[in-house]
Amino acid sequence: METLAIQTKSKQYPLYLGNDSIHILSSLISDLTPAASSIFIISDSVVSNHYMNHVKSCIPNDKNVFQFVIPAGEEQKSFENYYACQTYALECGLDRNSLVLAFGGGVIGDFAGFIAATYMRGIRFIQIPTTLLAHDSAVGGKVAINHPLGKNMIGVFHQPEAVIYNLSFLDSLPEQEWRSGFAEVIKHSFISKQNFFEWLQMNVHSLNDLQHEKLHEALKKAISVKANVIFQDETEQGVRAHLNFGHTLGHAIEAELGYGSITHGDAIAIGMQFALLLSEKVFQKDLQFVEKKTWFESYGYPKLPAHLTAEQLLERMKRDKKTKSGTIRMVLLKEIGCMQLVEISDESIKETLHEFIDSNS
Ligand SMILES: NC(=O)c1ccc[n+]([C@@H]2O[C@H](COP(=O)([O-])OP(=O)(O)OC[C@H]3O[C@@H](n4cnc5c(N)ncnc54)[C@H](O)[C@@H]3O)[C@@H](O)[C@H]2O)c1
Repeated sequence: METLAIQTKSKQYPLYLGNDSIHILSSLISDLTPAASSIFIISDSVVSNHYMNHVKSCIPNDKNVFQFVIPAGEEQKSFENYYACQTYALECGLDRNSLVLAFGGGVIGDFAGFIAATYMRGIRFIQIPTTLLAHDSAVGGKVAINHPLGKNMIGVFHQPEAVIYNLSFLDSLPEQEWRSGFAEVIKHSFISKQNFFEWLQMNVHSLNDLQHEKLHEALKKAISVKANVIFQDETEQGVRAHLNFGHTLGHAIEAELGYGSITHGDAIAIGMQFALLLSEKVFQKDLQFVEKKTWFESYGYPKLPAHLTAEQLLERMKRDKKTKSGTIRMVLLKEIGCMQLVEISDESIKETLHEFIDSNS
């Protein structure tokens, strides 16, 4: 097991990365000061069916353990579940020294983190990510639920006590979730100045390559990129926005298709390709859009669904959190390792969207 230190302005915490790192949970809980008065596990039904007993077996016997399990899926990051979960926490008698375990993928990490952040003005929580994608969401303290008008619109920053990334939990992950999570790994490789992108191209030719040492190494590199960004900018006043590379169009696609109709990573992969095309035009540079598009396709990422129009997508993109006074701002790539947040006119977005749609047909 390897321990990475995650450092933000407000807090330092460990991330335990290893095949069987869940065994650290017992001593982590025992060592908490003040002691955890009770443990509240929040999970989804899929993860719970696979691994709830395993996780419970790692909790010290003297602790009261409660669990709140929601169905799987993006649409579950809802006000209704938030209310039900807070109600259950109150009924169980959780107090300010209780500890939440966010046990699942990014949906559960965001949801349970937001529960912990707001219950009695904030209690402690530990992230136990179970998807590849959650290497991203479990680190950095962004927690949120969705509003019907926008994804992650209701949220705060709340850092966990620790992140336990137990890689053997990924064994049961379906192929589409590997691909989804790998999109955020690719994103981190674009942001990295440490030849991570080249490393990926050399070492990961298909999702099947994401095993054993290569999986560990890819995650370590990706998490280090994220950790470095949040060290500089915990609350997204500056460089943290770079982590949104591909997300402006990606979120628009997710919202337009309906949450859960496409995985987050598939949508972000399409969004990154669009951002690359736009970057070429804005910076007047050859960023090898065509080659990179082929590279994305080699992992099985889908094309932009043909029925989505430039006008529809533009409308959605204008609701992005980075939009300022009605002007869309997008994270673009100047070169590998160099991102920039740029204001883009509606006309340029629409024109490039048309070009992008043509390149997909
Ligand atoms: N907070 C952040 O910084 C941040 C960053 C990136 C993404 N996100 C959020 O993360 C969410 C997407 O996360 P996700 O892709 O992990 O989705 P998810 O949590 O919905 O998990 C995807 C699917 O995999 C299943 N699953 C999870 N672990 C499994 C396992 N070990 N074995 C088998 N099945 C398993 C889940 O039940 C679900 O059906 C989005 O809501 C996105 O907004 C947040």
